Amino acid sequence: PSFSVEILPEVDSTNTELMRRARAGLTDPVLLVGERQTAGRGRLGRDWKSDTQGDGGTLTFSLGIALQPQDWSGLSLAVGLSVVQSLHPDLQLKWPNDVWWQGRKLAGILIETASAGDQRYAVIGIGINITPREGDGLRTPPAALQELMPGIEAPVVLQKVAAPLVHAVQVFASQGFAPLRQAFHGRDLLYGQPVVCTDGTQGIAKGVDAGGVLLVHTDNGLVKINSAEVSVRPA
Ligand code: BTN
Repeated sequence: PSFSVEILPEVDSTNTELMRRARAGLTDPVLLVGERQTAGRGRLGRDWKSDTQGDGGTLTFSLGIALQPQDWSGLSLAVGLSVVQSLHPDLQLKWPNDVWWQGRKLAGILIETASAGDQRYAVIGIGINITPREGDGLRTPPAALQELMPGIEAPVVLQKVAAPLVHAVQVFASQGFAPLRQAFHGRDLLYGQPVVCTDGTQGIAKGVDAGGVLLVHTDNGLVKINSAEVSVRPA
């Protein structure tokens, strides 16, 4: 797939920057890397601190792409799946869009949409921890890619994930999530686990439906979760 890559030494947030560009009209897909983000954003209004340099170094980038899918709902799963498939067989996905390794989060994804006239855009932001961070003794530090791929550097990671990601997003736009469902289940961290969702639903996670909606088997039967935070309930 054709796309351009741009690297900025400093930006408020690669997502924010591409949202501005999308609203002004984007033509070809752009992959924007921020070596430093001064106002990186996570999901649910959380901050995402990031710097490529030093301990706790991350790769932070966003893809801005014009998109006309019939149903946007499985996009975050398609993106997460593409990222884990292009990086390592041991990486797992925690619905709806975190990448985990050995019980710790390794990467996060923030997807936003914009429009300019009739055109709609997806801005897909990805932050991948590359170098391990010192723990503060209180909480376990997040996972970093160098723990499972020693010596790997951010530019190589970008090279591995970029083209497959653009391709995966374009395939998703034409075929939707359904063809990816089996592959998602193979990476699904929550499958078969006792979970509790922020909307109060509790039960056993049973994967996702053909649209990427989370299925939870509860005392009252199968419940579909469209959006919520989900955590594994300690036994
Ligand atoms: C999350 O786990 O809450 C999502 C984190 C997403 C972070 C990435 S870093 C690149 C892009 N720019 C941002 O401001 N956020 C996303």
